Amino acid sequence: MNLIDGNNIAESVINELKEIVSLQVEKPCVAFVRVGNDPASVSYVRKKEKTAEKVGILSKLYVLPNSISENDLLERISELNNDRTVHGILVQAPLPHHINARCIFNHVAPSKDVDGFHAENLGKLCQEEETFISCTPAGISELIKRKKIETEGKHVVIVGRSLIVGKPAGMLFLKKGINGNSTVTFCHSRTPNLPEITRQADIVVAAIGKPLFIKPEMVKTGAVVIDVGINRISDPSKKSGFRLVGDVDFEKVAPKCKFITPVPGGVGPMTVAMLMSNTVQAFLKSRSS
Ligand code: GUN
Repeated sequence: MNLIDGNNIAESVINELKEIVSLQVEKPCVAFVRVGNDPASVSYVRKKEKTAEKVGILSKLYVLPNSISENDLLERISELNNDRTVHGILVQAPLPHHINARCIFNHVAPSKDVDGFHAENLGKLCQEEETFISCTPAGISELIKRKKIETEGKHVVIVGRSLIVGKPAGMLFLKKGINGNSTVTFCHSRTPNLPEITRQADIVVAAIGKPLFIKPEMVKTGAVVIDVGINRISDPSKKSGFRLVGDVDFEKVAPKCKFITPVPGGVGPMTVAMLMSNTVQAFLKSRSS
């Protein structure tokens, strides 16, 4: 078993970006919009702010009340779209139920959509055009690239069909060329005989949002397993009262794998690193246009 150290690879990405940013007179700036005080969102946004600071990216945090109307949120995003000092905009998900999240994500200017959630950018990904790619799938692709894991002709099984992770991750493996050319199967909570399908995978991407869902009998010996899950499960032995586990039963699955990502310390840090990369790209594009 070979552990993929996401912290280490993310640090390399961050150092490379830091170098690029240090050569710029003006600095990139990303706006974080957080609605409400969901503890996981508070913690993720804080991590993103700290990482931005490390890279030399300026950040602005907008904390809005849970009760904000969809119209008022759209208005705030319009202001950021029109603010020339802001190069990237990230609206932290999840949003309150009374807000149509798709409508919000599609309101972010595509040129500032560092999350890659906008329909135009998702469409460009399907068309294999250069675009902002959703940070978690981009992070998976970067891990695969830097670990020199062969994807050509491999069977990749994606477990989960979200617009943020599952679908774009599949598109990246499917695309023509390096780090692509895979045969991709999408599975989800309604897939019958799921273990039968995951057992055929050379690469499994677990993004179903269910703690410890992928068991050893669902994975072929020698497979590569990428765990996207970040689930809080109760653990009275911890001061916080919880611990983080992935969608993969790591202890039992790891011995069968050629490569596996841990949780925490696998895909998570890469998501943040790719957000920084997208922000630097947005900044550089704004300079050249
Ligand atoms: N919530 C969980 N992951 C993400 C992400 O990558 N971007 C945003 N905006 N919200 C999230």
